[in-house]
Amino acid sequence: MVASLAPLCLILLSLSQRATATTLNETCTNIVGFVPYDFCMVTLRSNPHSTHANTTTLAFISLNLAIINATTTKTKIDTLLNNVREPELKNGLQACNIIYGNAITDLRSSSDFLLSTKFETAKALASAASTAGNECGDALRHAKMASVPRRRLLRKENGDFGLLTLLFLGIINHLL
Ligand SMILES: *[C@@H]1O[C@H](CO)[C@@H](O)[C@H](O)[C@H]1NC(C)=O
Ligand SMILES: *[C@@H]1O[C@H](CO)[C@@H](O)[C@H](O)[C@H]1NC(C)=O
Ligand SMILES: *[C@@H]1O[C@H](CO)[C@@H](O)[C@H](O)[C@H]1NC(C)=O
Repeated sequence: MVASLAPLCLILLSLSQRATATTLNETCTNIVGFVPYDFCMVTLRSNPHSTHANTTTLAFISLNLAIINATTTKTKIDTLLNNVREPELKNGLQACNIIYGNAITDLRSSSDFLLSTKFETAKALASAASTAGNECGDALRHAKMASVPRRRLLRKENGDFGLLTLLFLGIINHLL
């Protein structure tokens, strides 16, 4: 009995895997207006659950990635602040610290609203957070840093955060 059911189970399993892998592919195809397809696939696949996830779970996965990214960036800013002397640069980094702190708070609230399926509010909070990278970049540019390496400070981090929040916004748009 068990043996005779095995082939059926395998067929059902492969069908469900195909269905869910389709969700990932379709999601990334549908949101190319927000982020490039490859970025979407590579980023979501960094979490093994993505392959079998529905759209709601993909939203959680992308939101958590954005929160982790922002938290890591904020830690980096804290470290930089302890090692920087120039007052203008320090001001810029302090602004970034506040900006990312607020963004993390907003994204955590967004996660709470997502959990209670209040998608509009979750989206609004993530939209507010999504500008953090650009705002931090502006704050650092205004700090008029002398050397070229300094001008590139946090550029990758700010760009990554913008893309991750766009990824989440693209996915949640499909839940509204
Ligand atoms: C992903 O979806 C697109 C559009 O729905 C389709 O053309 C493409 O073949 C799919 N790719 C995979 C790997 O399933
Ligand atoms: C999506 O998947 C999660 C986890 O498997 C499940 O709890 C949730 O009910 C699913 N949501 C929908 C809308 O199917
Ligand atoms: C932040 O996100 C980007 C884009 O997904 C990724 O390449 C980078 O490794 C992430 N950084 C951290 C510290 O998670």
